[in-house]
Amino acid sequence: MEADSPHLRGCLVVFEGIDGTGKSTQIKLLAEYLRAQGKEVVTDYEPTRGEWGMKVRNAALSGERLGLEEEINCLLQDRREHVREFIEPALQRGAWVLLDRYYLSMMAYQGATGVNVEEIRQMNEEFATVPDVAFWLDIPVEMAMERMNARGNDKDAFENEPFLQACADIYSAMEMPWLFRIEADGAIEETQARVREVIRRELL
Ligand code: TYD
Repeated sequence: MEADSPHLRGCLVVFEGIDGTGKSTQIKLLAEYLRAQGKEVVTDYEPTRGEWGMKVRNAALSGERLGLEEEINCLLQDRREHVREFIEPALQRGAWVLLDRYYLSMMAYQGATGVNVEEIRQMNEEFATVPDVAFWLDIPVEMAMERMNARGNDKDAFENEPFLQACADIYSAMEMPWLFRIEADGAIEETQARVREVIRRELL
């Protein structure tokens, strides 16, 4: 238990990957594992359901994305508020923060839309806490598309195969010492075992 060290900073763990890779399931299972060890864990996602995040979501759901400049501005504003009001306060009280998407999504998705990937990283790291560990859940794009089709939800404006392939190519070229590629095309439990192994090795 952490009760005797209340001022220890928490850990920021981020899950990334194209749509349909199973990020939310893996986050739920990792949260259970950490809570069973007495950790305080909070989970959240980006874009948030706040004003700025909803602008991006609503546009994409309508089938047409915002203009690139407006999309970037909204996503940055959304993340700024998220870091200030949710992520940092949780880390400062010692909680683990598990996020479904963060600024690596912007590098992949707005990068695949034509913005320089390194510039996107710099814009974000001016204000956004760098993760302690990030996972890239890697599955073939065709498999992700099949999972999305099976789910039966209408696809948003990001969810088409050539675009997601471009996003996956950017993820696969990323090199940060805190980013770990996880093969995520097998059973849920196998993927979770790989995730926990990295967490134990790097953070516990
Ligand atoms: P997504 O995680 O797919 O939301 P949900 O699971 O609720 O459908 O996020 C919506 C889209 O936002 C996703 O296709 C990727 C995109 N996105 C960006 O383009 N840039 C970003 O910085 C973030 C965080 C998300």
